[in-house]
Amino acid sequence: MRIDVVTIFPEYLAPLDLSLLGRARRDGLLDIHVHDLRTFATDRHRTVDDSPFGGGAGMVMTPQPWAAALDAVVAQGRTASMPSPHLLVPGPGGVPFTQALARRLAGEPWLAFACGRYEGIDERVYEHAAARMPVTVVSLGDYVLNGGEVAVLAMVEAIGRLLPGVVGNAESLVEESHEDGLLEYPVYTRPAVWADGDATRAVPPVLLSGDHAAIAAWRHQQRLARTAQRRPDLLPASAVTTTLSQLGLRLAVPADAEEILVLQRACWVPEGRINQAWDIPPLVETIDDVRAGLTAYRTWVGHSGGRLVVSGRARISPEDPAVWELGRLMVAPDLAGRGIGRELIAFLESQAPDTCRTAWMNTGDRSERNLRIYRKAGYRRMRTSPRYAGTVELTKRLR
Ligand code: ADE
Repeated sequence: MRIDVVTIFPEYLAPLDLSLLGRARRDGLLDIHVHDLRTFATDRHRTVDDSPFGGGAGMVMTPQPWAAALDAVVAQGRTASMPSPHLLVPGPGGVPFTQALARRLAGEPWLAFACGRYEGIDERVYEHAAARMPVTVVSLGDYVLNGGEVAVLAMVEAIGRLLPGVVGNAESLVEESHEDGLLEYPVYTRPAVWADGDATRAVPPVLLSGDHAAIAAWRHQQRLARTAQRRPDLLPASAVTTTLSQLGLRLAVPADAEEILVLQRACWVPEGRINQAWDIPPLVETIDDVRAGLTAYRTWVGHSGGRLVVSGRARISPEDPAVWELGRLMVAPDLAGRGIGRELIAFLESQAPDTCRTAWMNTGDRSERNLRIYRKAGYRRMRTSPRYAGTVELTKRLR
């Protein structure tokens, strides 16, 4: 990924040379370019600000150096496959920077950050930029910093660590706060019993039990309790998963591929029978296809009794970024009829980025049961002819 940062304080970005991000830069995973805005000012004093029209406190950053800097960034970095970056402007008036946004941005090849200072950047700079590239104003939270640089450090770290190869153990990325709408469980290491002065502090016994199902259940309980106590505002979103949440829904990791393939076959054999078609993708896919699917889509899995029993995946449609494609909705046949499928659909819909206005999915045209469930969930048949013979395509307005 290429990242450009335009700032009047290039030294502020020096920490990007440290730790995991520093190593990622040296390894060529992150190609970061920091530009000094003042070098694009044309006057003798390299002025980048002036007083606001209409009066008011403070100074406003002038348009000329910004336009020149952004044009130079585009000219320097542009390639045939990467004509322009996605420009992110940190500011307290922006859309909230969340883990979901970080994940979306981690999928882009080129990001540029424009660090404002003072009272902000002349509004016409946004118009200039928007004529050339996507622009998003992003806020770290409901407080005011002196400028965008600290926000850029935070965002580049949050995005950069999601790039393949930046964090050594990819699984550590999955079991994290905010990855599925809940906060992280507490963690412990040796000693099992710690003599802390007058106090004796022991690790919760379940963690020493070796019973992985019990440990997973305990951790899930801890996550729910913590989220309720510290971030009750997060719970309505995850409450969608009431029954699902008993299944500990989480993002799939490559190690889940084998079990996903098993569940896929178990769920689609009845579909094959109903549709008299044994060549449908979920039945003929290989383990490598499933692994490739884990990269192309965000896939969630849930377990019960140590067995992978639900899964579903979604992605922004490659053809239309306003469409959220759902697929591979699977509930183990022995858990069918409990409404988990409906909840899974609602969960996948809740994961749609704000930019997606409709959800899309398809199913076999003779799969009456699926069609009934999807109809109840608000999906309607599309009138256009389906991409694959023997299927129907369904869509639903999300917002
Ligand atoms: N610049 C100033 N305040 C900010 C905030 N809260 N988030 C991002 N950038 C900022």
